[in-house]
Amino acid sequence: MSTSEGSKFVIEKVERTAETTISALADLTMNVVRHGASIGFMDTLNIAEAIQFWTHVLTKVEQGKTILLIAKDVPTGQIVGTVQLQIDLPSNQSHRADLAKMLVHNSFRRKGIAKKLLQQIELNARALHKSLIVLDTVTDSPAYALYLRCGWKIVGDIPNYAFFPDGSPCSTTYFYKSIE
Ligand SMILES: CC(C)(COP(=O)(O)OP(=O)(O)OC[C@H]1O[C@@H](n2cnc3c(N)ncnc32)[C@H](O)[C@@H]1OP(=O)(O)O)[C@@H](O)C(=O)NCCC(=O)NCCS
Repeated sequence: MSTSEGSKFVIEKVERTAETTISALADLTMNVVRHGASIGFMDTLNIAEAIQFWTHVLTKVEQGKTILLIAKDVPTGQIVGTVQLQIDLPSNQSHRADLAKMLVHNSFRRKGIAKKLLQQIELNARALHKSLIVLDTVTDSPAYALYLRCGWKIVGDIPNYAFFPDGSPCSTTYFYKSIE
């Protein structure tokens, strides 16, 4: 269990589909999108679409194509954070993984949850003999600051790569981390 400023949380690896987990991850996604993060959805996202998205993710978890971690608040058990490692890459990139969908609930930020999720996902990547992780995130965002703080290297920026939920354009920065 990790503790920060009176807040406690545990990191768990999700191994199989459970409707309660899908529903909680969908709620978390709605929270993060409603607070303006560019994570693949527009502000028209509804709970049914979020559930459909997470149902697909859990299918990939069960197929061994994705590693999924969640952070749970203690003692409520609320899922307040998540991150994924996509490991289903072409055979000439079997040493590599892609990090995706790092989300922390708006009310639980700056407590070290994302940092802990990153540490744990790197341990999972090492256990799978991965030596390189790649990700992209919004330039100059809180996530950008997180990855810099956690030792990730910047590859470069792509202007106008995606949109914020409200439709305004955002630049994306590609990062990588060697974990040999
Ligand atoms: C980015 C995000 C995951 C960070 O989660 P978090 O749990 O608040 O992050 P942590 O508390 O672990 O922060 C670790 C470090 O990252 C940096 N950091 C995190 N948020 C930051 C912010 N808003 N501004 C500046 N630095 C920040 C800091 O160095 C921080 O250490 P400190 O609190 O000791 O200064 C969260 O803000 C979020 O969910 N954002 C919206 C979704 C998103 O954009 N995800 C990225 C998709 S790739």
